[in-house]
Amino acid sequence: MASKIPRAIASSGGARLLLLVAGAATLAVAALLLCRHQPLVVPVAAAQVEKLAALATPEALGRELFHDVALSKNRTQACATCHSPDYGFADPRTLPSTGGAVSLGDDGTSLGDRNAPTAAYASFTPSFGKDAKGRWMGGQFLDGRAATLEDQAGGPPLNPIEMGMPDKASVVARLRESPRYAAAFEALYGKGILDRADDAYAAMTKSIAAFERTDEFSPFDSKYDRYLRGEEKLTDQEDLGRVLFFSSQFTNCSQCHRLRDIGGAEKETFSGYVFHNIGVPANTAARAVNGTAPGHVDHGLPDGKIVIEPALAGKFKTPSLRNVAVTSPYMHNGVFKDLRTVILFYNKYVSKSPKRQINPETGEPFGPPEVADNLALEELKSAPALDDKRIDALVAFLKTLTDRRYEHLVAR
Ligand code: HEC
Ligand code: HEC
Repeated sequence: MASKIPRAIASSGGARLLLLVAGAATLAVAALLLCRHQPLVVPVAAAQVEKLAALATPEALGRELFHDVALSKNRTQACATCHSPDYGFADPRTLPSTGGAVSLGDDGTSLGDRNAPTAAYASFTPSFGKDAKGRWMGGQFLDGRAATLEDQAGGPPLNPIEMGMPDKASVVARLRESPRYAAAFEALYGKGILDRADDAYAAMTKSIAAFERTDEFSPFDSKYDRYLRGEEKLTDQEDLGRVLFFSSQFTNCSQCHRLRDIGGAEKETFSGYVFHNIGVPANTAARAVNGTAPGHVDHGLPDGKIVIEPALAGKFKTPSLRNVAVTSPYMHNGVFKDLRTVILFYNKYVSKSPKRQINPETGEPFGPPEVADNLALEELKSAPALDDKRIDALVAFLKTLTDRRYEHLVAR
């Protein structure tokens, strides 16, 4: 259909025809352009019309911004670089030096000290606060330091080791370079918005957050969701893993990795978002190359500077387990590569067997916790040891939490 639109319709007389043909989504943008007495781009190719239409909502604008390298100083990096929609919205780049544990910045040299978490399902994270038991929970980032997705989205462009822009005004100047952005921002956030740096920057974060709240980030269409809807069956092994995961007798997983009151409810995100110290060892390999000062400790929650109490040191926000099979490596510092290793890590707290203290990725015993205080031992020691059959079943179950679009990435 689109290719049949005659070029001549770009004249104002053809504008009505254009609106009819190109559909309702175009209407808002095109009408706006007309009522401002600005001529439509001449000639309007059909593809261009569709592109304009694509920015007609905050979500559509946010989608474009999320993928736009213009938000970084050297124009090499977008949000999607570290949160790739093709790889579970995590960072798929694997630098040999770090095993992909931490992300490379726009300057091509800076490395972070934390593993880029998935941005999928992040809209389900409650805002930072205390739960009914008085425990800190929620907020964006692994230490909860951003109250909302909007606050979070404002961080990376100005972070010197990420997108590296000097200030808000320079980011907004980049937005002004694009006539499409200019039109979309004016239409959505008011005339002259891009002339006011703070307001424009806030509008940008609103759009990105709106995009992050769409179903593209949270489709709930994994095999597990399809199983819950009666559309598909789990294998015996996956089903054993499911039973173990939600049981309070055989594992401790759902004490921390459960949002809904009832295990097995729909739209489960597999995190209660409470902060815990589970004793993750430092990632010495990543630290050897990322320039972290010797002796540096990532304290998690208190390093976010929202709440600073010694009793909170070592606590990180419990992550969602959605798409976990495609977002390796694991933990806040990417210290483990394999899902099975993660389960073995938990199992070492309860197994008395010396061989169960070994990290199969290093052949050495699991390293000591980066922060030895405040360990969640009550929860971590509340389950019996797992045998290989149960360990494998849990891994198989975690793989069923993969959104349909990533299923081809999971080794069965
Ligand atoms: C250079 C890589 C990089 C870029 C670029 C980047 N991020 Fe991130 N992102 C990270 C890392 C690393 C973290 C965790 C940092 C922390 O907790 O301190 C993170 C955390 C997040 C979180 C929090 C997830 C959670 O569960 O707490 C969201 C949401 C997010 N990023 C979205 C974005 C958006 C939107 C952009 C673009 C404006 C962006 N990121 C750009 C690496 C990146
Ligand atoms: C005491 C609460 C608690 C319990 C119990 C618990 N977890 Fe976790 N889990 C966490 C926290 C907190 C993290 C993040 C720790 C960090 O990054 O330092 C985490 C991380 C993970 C990760 C890595 C996710 C990622 O994207 O990096 C997986 C996988 C995981 N847990 C699975 C499980 C399974 C399976 C069980 C049961 C055998 C379990 N957890 C039990 C709190 C818990």
